Amino acid sequence: MNSPILRMENIVKTFPGVVANRGVNLEIRRGEIHALLGENGAGKTVLMSILYGLYVPDSGTIYLNGQPITIKSPKDAIAKRIGMVHQHFMLEPTLTVAENIILGQFPSWTILNKQRIGEVHEKIRSLSNQFGLGVDPAARVSRLSVGEQQRVEILKVLYHGADLLILDEPTAVLTPQEASRLLEFLRDLAKKGLTTIFITHKLDEVMQVSDRVTVLRDGQVIGTCETRETNPRALAKMMVGREVLMDLHRKLASPGEPVLAISNLRVRDARGLPVVKGVSFTVRAGEIVGVAGVSGNGQSELALAIAGLIDDVAFDRFQLEGKDVTRRDLRAASHRHSAHIPEDRQKMGMVLPFSVSENFILEEYSSPRFARHGFLRGQAIRSYSQNQVKKFDIKVSDVSEEIANLSGGNQQKVVVARELDRHPGFLLVNQPTRGIDIGATEFVHQQILAQRDGGTGILLISTDLEEIFALSDRILVIFEGEIIGELPSDRSQVEKVGLMMAGKRDPDRE
Ligand SMILES: Nc1ncnc2c1ncn2[C@@H]1O[C@H](COP(=O)(O)OP(=O)(O)OP(=O)(O)O)[C@@H](O)[C@H]1O
Ligand SMILES: [Mg+2]
Repeated sequence: MNSPILRMENIVKTFPGVVANRGVNLEIRRGEIHALLGENGAGKTVLMSILYGLYVPDSGTIYLNGQPITIKSPKDAIAKRIGMVHQHFMLEPTLTVAENIILGQFPSWTILNKQRIGEVHEKIRSLSNQFGLGVDPAARVSRLSVGEQQRVEILKVLYHGADLLILDEPTAVLTPQEASRLLEFLRDLAKKGLTTIFITHKLDEVMQVSDRVTVLRDGQVIGTCETRETNPRALAKMMVGREVLMDLHRKLASPGEPVLAISNLRVRDARGLPVVKGVSFTVRAGEIVGVAGVSGNGQSELALAIAGLIDDVAFDRFQLEGKDVTRRDLRAASHRHSAHIPEDRQKMGMVLPFSVSENFILEEYSSPRFARHGFLRGQAIRSYSQNQVKKFDIKVSDVSEEIANLSGGNQQKVVVARELDRHPGFLLVNQPTRGIDIGATEFVHQQILAQRDGGTGILLISTDLEEIFALSDRILVIFEGEIIGELPSDRSQVEKVGLMMAGKRDPDRE
């Protein structure tokens, strides 16, 4: 039972200017759930990508079931029954679940007759039943929720027969409900003998689901421990190398004039169905208004509408910093008066083929700070970027590096650093710390509070209730596209907010 299924010995992997793994030793026991923890850029994804054949290590040895092996490609890894679900999803949205699962397995689709397709569907259905995943092989991926897509990714790995499952931050994009379902599912898999390596930044998930945990820092293993013999505070300290506050000090807000006032805002989705149904509220200077809700209740569309990034929007009134905005100039006005940390960093927050410094000045490339007589001021941009990198502790070898090469959390930090530095009157933040490690989350929270104290009015959208309560001065609850209540941000209200998020409009009256 406890013999190691996998041993990684002295793994070294360098990229130009960066040592991602500097002699990593990792031992995974058969049938365990092994959590892998570490700060942004610590080397977790690179280490697992080596195991999955996406990178070849510079040196070091991998032993599978005691035998030294080489893994040159994901195909090799799959043949050795190693499967991986990535940090950023890799499904093809226009294809069905079944098509995605067997993609690449057959030379071409045309050779698949009805009977073969039927067999594939049957196998998927039976696996899905066996593991209680509830996945329909004929469904088109674009129609699935993020949680469902996640299950398809896992099913894909199981379909190809994995003994060792690698999950890179699988819960980062899930709702708390979906996340706890996934964790239960991982426990079931473990009972069936499957081994899982589980990367996460959420310490409570580590405590809840893992048997053992390994902490990486700066490309090295700091230690491996039995989960039941450790606790979140100790793990945080191992990760960051210092005590982490984990509890934020927040002064009372002193709100001023409204910076955002909207009434009867309505948004329709691509199919013409109402997703935001007549929302009205105000955000004042110097306060943080939190929007709590289970994701999928209209908050993404609400955010896009406020940023002027969605077409099918209507409202009775929309004021930014006291000025009325019409639908036609919503986008321009929103860009002028506000800053926006978007929910999906890769699609909306940055330009992947651009460098880190280009991404820093994305919004301001024509301002006199960075340009003169139509020419970009290279040195000014460079030193500005270097300062930002230092301030936000962004792990990058040089600011000229393509942002695509940064770790997930470091990409997020670039977006946050850029938007916070625009010093807007109004700041819209949606899932600001998604994928960010706990030390950096502490820092980003402090920065958001500092903006508030400097007089910015902030709308915070987050599915993480902890984050909502840590930062907000008051809380709006969104359910099925409507704001169904407003509460003070007081820990005694947690349960009430939870009930309202589930659709109870008046939890006191029972
Ligand atoms: N293809 C690449 N080219 C250059 N550098 C890279 C590449 N991939 C990763 N790196 C660098 O290797 C280091 C480790 O990155 P990795 O993605 O493993 O971090 P991580 O621990 O997964 O962090 P996060 O929690 O933010 O996802 C980072 O400094 C990153 O910038
Ligand atoms: Mg990563």
